[in-house]
Amino acid sequence: MPDAYILGIESSCDETAAAVVRSGEQLISNIVASQIATHQPYGGVVPELASREHLKAIVPVVRQALAGANQTLNSVDAIAVTQGPGLAGALLVGISYAKALAFALDKPLIAVNHLEGHIHAVLLEERQKGNHDLQFPVLALVVSGGHTHLYLAAQLNQGWTYENIGHTRDDAAGEAFDKVAKLLGLGYPGGPIIDRLAPHGDPTAVKFLPAQIKHRDRRDRKGQKEVTTIKSDTRFDFSYSGIKTAVLRYVEVHNMHRSIEIRRETLAQLSGPKLEDFVANCDRQTLDLVASFQRAMVEDLVSKTLTAARACDVATLFVTGGVAANNELRSTFERDGAQDGLPVYFPSRPLSTDNAAMIAAAAYPKFLAKDFAAMDFSAEASLPLR
Ligand code: KG4
Ligand code: ZN
Repeated sequence: MPDAYILGIESSCDETAAAVVRSGEQLISNIVASQIATHQPYGGVVPELASREHLKAIVPVVRQALAGANQTLNSVDAIAVTQGPGLAGALLVGISYAKALAFALDKPLIAVNHLEGHIHAVLLEERQKGNHDLQFPVLALVVSGGHTHLYLAAQLNQGWTYENIGHTRDDAAGEAFDKVAKLLGLGYPGGPIIDRLAPHGDPTAVKFLPAQIKHRDRRDRKGQKEVTTIKSDTRFDFSYSGIKTAVLRYVEVHNMHRSIEIRRETLAQLSGPKLEDFVANCDRQTLDLVASFQRAMVEDLVSKTLTAARACDVATLFVTGGVAANNELRSTFERDGAQDGLPVYFPSRPLSTDNAAMIAAAAYPKFLAKDFAAMDFSAEASLPLR
């Protein structure tokens, strides 16, 4: 099979991204235009603004990705685009542009599920490192601003199949990081700053009760003979709205509102505040709260995922999505996974958060299978992964 150069386009949330990947195993160029500055004043993503920013960025971002790969619109073999899940208006910008390119250039068009993309970010980088011997079955935790999902991933002929065995019943883990950071006056997005502030606090200072990270564990060891027999009644679910409320209650009980307002105003006046600025504007109580919150999130994510991995007897674990960039999450997964003899793979940090390389990589098996999208396909805000 000759090399296939796939142009990937991603616009599901607040990053406009394009990339060129060769045959699902070599990242050639990867451009991400972040909209953080646009959404920061609002403390979260504003869908209308996201669509407008995608419209502005999409053409230059695609041009840059092609130029960086020494490719042209004519030389690439296919165009892949995120179909969903994500913000409908944001997805439509990428989809419309990809359709127009595919139609005008008479190239195959491939629709990719964003969550499948996150899983293929790991596969792309492992292949690029020369690791072609991943052991199956694989369990993938996709943990981001919109998702905390567990999938059993299997390779079937040239394609891939996914079985969801757990997800969050309310907030996604990244959403909890973002909401807690906003509540503490630390800005948006919350994950990266909490990640960097946490080592400055005492993670044992504030105890979050298990009931505050609530979940109804309905695991049933019956019927778990093989990975493929695990059905929807065997769930490994997460829940992160309780811990967010627990942080809010802590803030109220300890009268922290005034100091939070001062911090919010001080940081808002700084252009591009650095870690030292955040540390200087956080008292010990806040740093301890941040560290304890992160510890509780990490312990819950790791213990539930490893419980699922053991029950399904998987050989390999993938941890991917924006929250997979978190330092404490990575080291805890590595430590606890090693105790179970379970190899854990993460994407590099640039490919943990949203990007188009993962979309181009996930498209490659579909390219081989000639699984092309019809010109009338549209955005699906809640597209499930199967
Ligand atoms: O995958 P992603 O870029 O977009 C979605 O598909 O949602 O994930 C973004 C999420 C945000 O909630 C952000 O706060 C979180 O990932 N995030 C982190 C870190 N970097 C990004 N959370 C914890 N630690 C990080 N270092
Ligand atoms: Zn994502």
